[in-house]
Amino acid sequence: MLRAALLGAAGNRGLARFVTKHGRSFGAYRFVAGETLDEFMRVVASTNAAGMRVAAGLLGEDVTDRAAAIAVAREYEGVLDRFATARSNANVALKLTHLGLAIDRDLAASNVEAVVRHAAPSGNFVRIDMEQSAHTSTTLAIYRGLRARGLDNTGTVLQAYLYRSEADLESLLDLSPNLRLVKGAYLEPAAVAYPHKRDVDKAYVRLIETSLQRGGFTAIATHDDAVIEHSIDFIASKGVREGTYEFQMLYGVRPKLQADVVRRGHPLRIAVPFGSQWYPYFIRRLAERPANVAFLLSSMWRG
Ligand code: FDA
Repeated sequence: MLRAALLGAAGNRGLARFVTKHGRSFGAYRFVAGETLDEFMRVVASTNAAGMRVAAGLLGEDVTDRAAAIAVAREYEGVLDRFATARSNANVALKLTHLGLAIDRDLAASNVEAVVRHAAPSGNFVRIDMEQSAHTSTTLAIYRGLRARGLDNTGTVLQAYLYRSEADLESLLDLSPNLRLVKGAYLEPAAVAYPHKRDVDKAYVRLIETSLQRGGFTAIATHDDAVIEHSIDFIASKGVREGTYEFQMLYGVRPKLQADVVRRGHPLRIAVPFGSQWYPYFIRRLAERPANVAFLLSSMWRG
């Protein structure tokens, strides 16, 4: 109920304006590494110093203006340049709706291709996040298009809550894909997604096992202790090679668990978002855990 109400609020423009205006007092900075590239780079340096890799995410989605979508691509290229100069252990993850998918599929495709090409000379990598199910087929088609043009420094995401994801994984295996596997963060109808969490969790483990054994590179992106433990056991028992997997978590979520995974010798990448348009991202993080709403209310109370 609360999850549905919060995810519904993610699209409310009036609420977005109000919450964005009072950002810091709403506690959003727990999940966001500031609004500027300099603030963000400081978090990248401290995250790397703690033995963790970074995936940068420029906050924003659903861009409806061509020039703005092109500007986002240039901004990502600027982030990649900063990583190369600072020798950061960091790559980028982007959303196709931020690059203009809602305006024109070809615009988003050419924008993401430009960023992927820009990343290649410095040996860097670009992941295409997965958004609402209405965009899944297009996102996978754009990913396949990039790979067909020889751009291998890119990957995408599969969401366990979608019924289709296991078939999608099968159909991608011939590409030896670099996939981030997640449970799924959007509000989806039962026609396309498992309504019960236990079914999502089971499907998630199936995806992880298939990808670890038959995929190219598997990013296990979760804060779920049971799934992490299962994956660690599976990696050891099946002899999954080092360099073919990593764990991923979100900036500000379960920091003790993050430190624990690193301490146990497993590679971990932290997805670190930054920028001024943090509202829908923030709401999705609240929806993942009711206790976060209590945290939000107490931060508002403290001012
Ligand atoms: P689950 O929700 O079962 O939580 C496991 C444990 O972690 C619980 O104890 C829970 O309370 C705690 N926890 C989870 N989220 C928390 C939060 N926000 N704050 C505090 N505690 C929390 N989704 C998507 O649809 N497309 C995408 O491209 C991505 N990309 C992505 C990248 C990375 C690096 C991560 C970690 C996640 C995503 N996601 C995503 C989000 C993903 O789909 C999912 O919504 C969240 O990871 C939460 O689910 P968990 O797997 O953590 O499990």
